[in-house]
Amino acid sequence: MSVSMAIIGGTGVYDPNILSNIRDVTVDTPYGQVTVKVGEYQGREVAFMNRHGAGHSVPPHLINYRANIAGLKILGVKSILATAAVGSLNTAMKPGDFVFVDQFLDFTKSRVQTFFEGGEQGVIHADVTEPYCAEMRKIMAQVAEKNGLSYHQGGVYVTTEGPRFETPAEIKMYRQLGGDLVGMTSVPEVVLAREAEMCYATVCMVTNFAAGISPTNLTHQEVLDVMAENAANLRQLAMGTMALLAPDRQCTCHTALGGPIHELLKG
Ligand code: HPA
Repeated sequence: MSVSMAIIGGTGVYDPNILSNIRDVTVDTPYGQVTVKVGEYQGREVAFMNRHGAGHSVPPHLINYRANIAGLKILGVKSILATAAVGSLNTAMKPGDFVFVDQFLDFTKSRVQTFFEGGEQGVIHADVTEPYCAEMRKIMAQVAEKNGLSYHQGGVYVTTEGPRFETPAEIKMYRQLGGDLVGMTSVPEVVLAREAEMCYATVCMVTNFAAGISPTNLTHQEVLDVMAENAANLRQLAMGTMALLAPDRQCTCHTALGGPIHELLKG
């Protein structure tokens, strides 16, 4: 049975408990080895990947994003549902709300953002007019609506380098530039998924108002606490979305670049 879907669990989402018959699967990629959990959901095989590694041991700027996305691609994954804990710069997007982001602003500094590094691998300029899969976002909104969850369809995710939180001055700048949410991981994950011609969507969980908007200093613990409070809602959303994602569905994400990733991961 092939693994057509994956969940990338971000901060606070470490437990693949929506799957049954779970086993560890290790995949070799040109960028290193990755180990994921593979289990069943409604008779289909689904991969669960911990973005930050075992015990949240890898900080955002050191995640091997290429190995992670290449590993899922090699497994046969066509659709990735990523979770992300985020701070909010938009007072309409409150702690506990879900946001199905549709755009990003990239303020990362040290991350490789492409599989294609010239020479034999070629050069790719991926189109990211619509970086997050529109079909998946629509399905997530349907599921959120049906379950009475508080959600926002669309939002701009500002990706910072981290691992520190932001200064209030930075947050003010991001707001002026049109950002709604701030987090540390969506870029380059979303960009690599596009290069790999996979559907990719992120469900953001607002865990706090960002620095200078929040009345208190930020802590990682408060982020974890809000994630834990909303774990059941997130689980419901992930299950509902997976149930509605037909395994053999066609989407323009799958043909975005004409297939150069297959050549690259072949050997
Ligand atoms: N900033 C950056 N990343 C985050 C935040 C934040 O305020 N909250 C959760 N992840």
